Amino acid sequence: MKRAIGLLTIAVAAASATSMARTPAYKDTSIPLEQRVEDALSRMTTQEKINLIHAQSKFSSRGVPRLGIPDLWTDDGPHGVRPDVLWDEWDQAGQTNDSCVAFPALTCLAATWNPATSYLYGFSLGEEARYRGKDVILGPGVNIYRTPVNGRNFEYMGEDPYLAAKMVVPYIKGLQSNGVAACVKHFALNNNEVNRHTTNVIIDDRTLYEIYLPAFKAAVQEGGAWSIMGAYNLYRDEHLCHNSRMLNDILKKEWGFDGAVISDWGGTHDTKQAITNGLDLEFGSWTNGLSTGASNAYDSYYMARPYFNLISKGEYSTKELDDKVRRVLRLIMRTAMDHSKGEGSLCSEEHYEAARRIGNEGIVLLRNEGRVLPINPTKGKRILVVGENAIKMMTVGGGSSSLKVQHEISPLDGIREAAKNLGMDVEYARGYVGDVSGEYNGVVTGQNLKDDRSPAELIAEAVAKAKEADHVIFVGGLNKSSGQDCEDSDRAGLEPPYGQDDVIVALAKANPGLTVVNISGNAVAMPWADMVPSIVQAWFLGSEAGNSIADILFGKVNPSGKLPFTFPVRLADSPAHKLNAYPGTKRADSNIVDLEYKEGILVGYRWHDTKKIKPQFAFGHGLSYTDFKFGKATADKTLISEGETVTFTVPVTNTGSMAGAEVIQLYVSDPKCTVPRPVKELKGFSKVFLQPGETKEVKISIGRDALSYFDAENHEWVAEPGQFTASFGPSSDNIATTVKFTLK
Ligand code: BGC
Repeated sequence: MKRAIGLLTIAVAAASATSMARTPAYKDTSIPLEQRVEDALSRMTTQEKINLIHAQSKFSSRGVPRLGIPDLWTDDGPHGVRPDVLWDEWDQAGQTNDSCVAFPALTCLAATWNPATSYLYGFSLGEEARYRGKDVILGPGVNIYRTPVNGRNFEYMGEDPYLAAKMVVPYIKGLQSNGVAACVKHFALNNNEVNRHTTNVIIDDRTLYEIYLPAFKAAVQEGGAWSIMGAYNLYRDEHLCHNSRMLNDILKKEWGFDGAVISDWGGTHDTKQAITNGLDLEFGSWTNGLSTGASNAYDSYYMARPYFNLISKGEYSTKELDDKVRRVLRLIMRTAMDHSKGEGSLCSEEHYEAARRIGNEGIVLLRNEGRVLPINPTKGKRILVVGENAIKMMTVGGGSSSLKVQHEISPLDGIREAAKNLGMDVEYARGYVGDVSGEYNGVVTGQNLKDDRSPAELIAEAVAKAKEADHVIFVGGLNKSSGQDCEDSDRAGLEPPYGQDDVIVALAKANPGLTVVNISGNAVAMPWADMVPSIVQAWFLGSEAGNSIADILFGKVNPSGKLPFTFPVRLADSPAHKLNAYPGTKRADSNIVDLEYKEGILVGYRWHDTKKIKPQFAFGHGLSYTDFKFGKATADKTLISEGETVTFTVPVTNTGSMAGAEVIQLYVSDPKCTVPRPVKELKGFSKVFLQPGETKEVKISIGRDALSYFDAENHEWVAEPGQFTASFGPSSDNIATTVKFTLK
């Protein structure tokens, strides 16, 4: 017996020694990535290479089974991990283990103005993706908010390239620290949904580089994103999923991107362009990307058999193919083949806490006349909540970002819970009926929101109850139905739908203690703003929506969110609409719609400031329950030479009685320049938490980048010598202190 054990031990040791000796280089994680990639590539047949660069199911692509290189599993993105659909159908797979935590929409994340919160977001989402076995999350999105009607603005990070760049980088780092790749989308110039497959964007280079590219560039160069998704639309008459300039020249050559370009689902249109114009991994061809699609069409993908045939005929060598395969191998090795990553976790307490915290930090207090908020029980204990959005589930709908959640706390439930703890009573009135449907891609909310009463009856009920109440909270805004905040459609206008204006005006007349909570990912018109003492911008907040909203309304949390985009008074005040530069003009001879970005660099507050058009609520605006005072800003030097940085110090004091956070925003102006420049541009910010009475000296440094414009003719960033102004304040329309400095 003893001897037998001894022999067995020797046999096992020998076997593991041979298997160690046989571990191929591509599997050996102690070897540098590039060597592993080359090793794997050298072992693959042409057919295996072709198999690697296109989908094999709705959301996965094939690895190399013979070599033990695993498949790659992608999933949406960007607010939670989407439930599984069938292998080759859009119907639900019917799993019982794919319910997730929905995090707040990216507009809310941007509104936190807190990069640390963005890391928490990406990290938590990455853990959920890990647990679900996903290698790539299709997000985050950083398309610039060009018009308030874009149905997908809620999935993006607002109108400012600097803010979006600063906020996207930590999300990517947090996500990828779990061995889950970000797939940053939709690269680029995908700024509206109407005609999304046929719009050809016409834009000058200065605008492209100053406004629409910086967040993507930061995602690649600072965030180290492992993949990028091409956009559906066109630029220079080429679809952006195979666009020579955008993908080859800018992304890969100029920025040195070494990851994989993934097509949007159904965004590939031509084999030869796909071969030469920078696409690496094709998904969703023969589908509409959302709900319909041909079955088992994978062999017919542009980068499948048709590509193989062109190589067989000698029309192409494997030069382009090898480059694509290298990039996809890198992606697989960084994710699916990273065996050091943890197991992840799903629906953990920490993830719910993270979701709630992000919501708390992103909610924006837009107005608070007479300090109606936070709700004060000493002013009476009867609360009336009105509005469909107080009860409607918002995690289902909106297109590909739709989720199947383990739970979603409605605003009404969140308010009820908080009120109960304070001994307050909550009544509810519907107020209006919007969209009672609750289904997306087979996920159903199970809510019955049907109500057949007329608008007049609903308003009468709400008004009668409002007269009896001490505090009235209207929860409305948009929802995730087509034509609102939803993929594949844009909004018809800026007005809130379903006659909500009438309900709000009636409530304002009935009760002086009205708060309007607007739930949306977009600006909405608020013609009643002056009549309503308190207005809160609450976004789509995911699983913990109701708790986050209640935390703010009852003052458990002091609001600190700041708008990541402008709320114009009317749609015509927005540059794209004022200049008739949306949605473009259809060509006579084809279905292509040419859309010229006529406003150029004057997007969002750059336009409003420069044209002196007062918005309803400005970019960067957001109030607190406490007060902050900015002291005089100073600079460590007022004369700087090229290559130097300047550091500003701004003392900020919490002069109120509640702890809270303020965002110190730094805008740079270049009043005398050979090219026209916006009045000012965001070039730095810092969020500080202050106890009552506390002062902090906030330091923000900027360098040449912050002073430069893009000289399109010479294709370079130029900082012209002369005097600049640095302006500091709590919002773009409230500058508290300025410093002048000179570039030599
Ligand atoms: C959307 C993408 C999404 C993809 C996969 C497309 O319709 O545009 O953002 O990631 O579908 O669901």
